[in-house]
Amino acid sequence: MGLRYQTQKNSSSSCKFSTIVIFFLILITSILLFLQQPWQWPCPCPCPILPHPRPSKKIPQAGTAIDLRDAKFPWNKLSFGHVSQQWLKLAVFSKTWPVIGAAPGGMERHASTLCTALADRGHEVHVFTVPSDRTPREDIHQGSLHVHFAANDHGSVNCSLAFEIFSRENEGRAFDFVHTESVSLPHWRAKMLPNRVAVTWHGIWYEIMHSKLFQELLSNPNGQLPGPMTELQEAMPRLIDEIRFFSGYTQHICISNSAADILTNIYQAPRKNVHVILNGVDETVFVPNPVAGISFRRKYGVPDNASVIMGVAGRLVRDKGHPLLYEAISSISRRHSGIYLLVAGKRYKELAQSVKVLGALEALELSAFYNALNVFVNPTLRPQGLDLTLIEAMHCGKPVVAPNYPSITGTVLIRDELGYTFSPNVNSLTEALEKVVGDGRTGLRRRGAACKEHAVALFTATKMASAYERFFLCMKDDQYCKYPLPNDL
Ligand SMILES: *[C@@H]1O[C@H](CO)[C@@H](O)[C@H](O)[C@H]1NC(C)=O
Ligand SMILES: *[C@@H]1O[C@H](CO)[C@@H](O)[C@H](O)[C@H]1NC(C)=O
Repeated sequence: MGLRYQTQKNSSSSCKFSTIVIFFLILITSILLFLQQPWQWPCPCPCPILPHPRPSKKIPQAGTAIDLRDAKFPWNKLSFGHVSQQWLKLAVFSKTWPVIGAAPGGMERHASTLCTALADRGHEVHVFTVPSDRTPREDIHQGSLHVHFAANDHGSVNCSLAFEIFSRENEGRAFDFVHTESVSLPHWRAKMLPNRVAVTWHGIWYEIMHSKLFQELLSNPNGQLPGPMTELQEAMPRLIDEIRFFSGYTQHICISNSAADILTNIYQAPRKNVHVILNGVDETVFVPNPVAGISFRRKYGVPDNASVIMGVAGRLVRDKGHPLLYEAISSISRRHSGIYLLVAGKRYKELAQSVKVLGALEALELSAFYNALNVFVNPTLRPQGLDLTLIEAMHCGKPVVAPNYPSITGTVLIRDELGYTFSPNVNSLTEALEKVVGDGRTGLRRRGAACKEHAVALFTATKMASAYERFFLCMKDDQYCKYPLPNDL
């Protein structure tokens, strides 16, 4: 009825109607032109400073909302507002928990940085683990952080005991989410849980196979048998086993972009269950501090006129990267004077007068160590995980020399200006170090400034913790999967 009435009315007064339309079009056009005037036409100086939209570096572009579960980039790139009305109860399984005096590895540092930050935000966090020095200790209860130690006679995790304590804690208010650092919670137990489980992968067998390949090529160049080939051969069944049990965990968090690609392309995990949250380090501890750097150099007898001071972290021995560095440094030192190498860590033999072995360093001293350098070198043969030392050096404003593994070039050393890459062989590393020496202190300082910017944008403990917080909230309640929410950005 209404439609026919309108049609009749339109046809009878169509002439008058189009006049009105044209009138309004002209009016609206002139209003728009008037409004645009200040942007379009030059105005007499001094010009008022007009607000203009700054190009947004954030992903997604302003105005477009996304579902976080579809994000194919690190969640660290987003900035999440604090959600104060939702307190989560979280269970975390970790193979070890760092204690003072034992140099912690990447995985346990991830666990402690993350759990401490989440507990500080008010969430109730229960960790099931053992002390990293493998000695019996009292459980820790600090505010809403609860660390339950469940060791067997050898000091490693007694899974049944850890699971018993977990079940007891789960009886009252059930855990909102269970998180495991790699396979600390075995896949067959994960499958049995009524709770939802997410795993953060610190190195997967596909990447470990790469390590073994590089070690084989480097330590046995002529293919003599028996060589370390056996390790490479043993890695393959482990990889196949890992791909098979993968589906025991539902949600997968990767600490590098390349690991996420492997999980979806090789392990065939559904992309919507694979998320990238990069490692973060305490951005208040690792900061540029030239004064601390200078006094650190003096303490260890590095002369003021040294031309380039390089540094490495001493956990290298385990992954056999040090023979590589030994040869490259010897060759560089023969050709250039004033090159110094500082080694943080114990297990490293003296190479020459220009090499200083510093012993194990605590976090604060470690920060001074990075500050004492002009460049940080990491000749690791392990292309897995995300190396915290590279991130720490960058936070202190130092460029890095690192192998061209996908985990590094896809996430950390993403641009040439941030440092130098090499293939894991002596010639390639020597070539990279030649470039370092060629760039000299001034060039290195410029790259270091770019590194600092990159590290602050992605690799802070705060960004990591707020990404995980949002992840757990999103898994519990869909509405938190939307980004941005009103208090984000
Ligand atoms: C592990 O814990 C279970 C349960 O508490 C206990 O029965 C078992 O003896 C423990 N195993 C070892 C090796 O300590
Ligand atoms: C640094 O100074 C020492 C002593 O003054 C000298 O022997 C050395 O050659 C100098 N090194 C460089 C790289 O200039």
